[in-house]
Amino acid sequence: MSALPKVYVTRKVPPDGLDILRKSGQVQFDMWDSDDPVPRVELLKKVKGCDGILCVLTEKIDAQLLEAAGPNLKVVSTMSVGFDHLSLDELKKRGIRVGYTPDVLTDCVAELTVALLLTTSRRLIEATHEAKTGGWGTWRTLWLCGHELANSTVGILGLGRIGVAIAERLKPFKVKKFIYTDVVPRPELANMIEAEYVSFDELAKQSDFLAICCALTPETHGICNWNLFSKMKKNAIFINTSRGGVVNQEDLYEALSTGLIAGAGLDVTTPEPLPTHHPLFTLKNCVILPHIASASYTTRNAMSALAANNLLAGLRGEPMPQELKL
Ligand code: DGY
Repeated sequence: MSALPKVYVTRKVPPDGLDILRKSGQVQFDMWDSDDPVPRVELLKKVKGCDGILCVLTEKIDAQLLEAAGPNLKVVSTMSVGFDHLSLDELKKRGIRVGYTPDVLTDCVAELTVALLLTTSRRLIEATHEAKTGGWGTWRTLWLCGHELANSTVGILGLGRIGVAIAERLKPFKVKKFIYTDVVPRPELANMIEAEYVSFDELAKQSDFLAICCALTPETHGICNWNLFSKMKKNAIFINTSRGGVVNQEDLYEALSTGLIAGAGLDVTTPEPLPTHHPLFTLKNCVILPHIASASYTTRNAMSALAANNLLAGLRGEPMPQELKL
């Protein structure tokens, strides 16, 4: 009888995924049984000789790691929809298959994006702070005024499943128009939300709210920079729940602190965690969350289950439920 494939799980994954691996009887696995990332040195040792790796977005799966794993490695399954932590060229070169977790987190991420947008545009963090700390005097006519969604234009940079789900949730707020830009028009998705395809510049100029939903790639790295912010409206609210790397944070700080745009809500930053002394934390018009867009019990469990099923299918040499085409 041949030995079961060897798998390394780089983080304590939620119970559903763990159960699937345990009950499958198809793999022998070792896990970094902690909520904190496995130290790189340990990771490089642990992956040696593995057939599969189940990882999360904090682990860089690059040439060094793939060399350390060696020639047995057949599958990398990431418990994330984002894959900017994976060196796709290196994986492809070695014929290693990649699983990821789209769809199962779409609702959760869209919900958080809407929450962050409203929190930022209606200045909820400032408001609760004032209420708690004695800043709440008499009712004042323009105190803590923000910007409303009714009759607004909402822009989406990178229209995929998440962008559509955000628009679907925002529509009942009486948004006037949805616009988007992407590498190419996406009519099948755009039709679902009656969104108009515009150029990058028009997206910047017309959006009252701009939601960043694109993947981080060499093409989108730093794409939200002075060129974008300087074209935006003074009342515009910028929301990023994709990856911190798409934003030039120095330019964003400049845009927010000089009133070039009205506010920003960020669920993702560079680096993560963002150091507490970072200038963006000093701004009242910048709301920063610690990368929690997919953080519901249901979704994180679904992500872990999908990641486990991707891994097992890949190791059996079968089509994965969600395989990234390399
Ligand atoms: C992902 O899956 O890429 C998300 O950023 C995790 O929340």
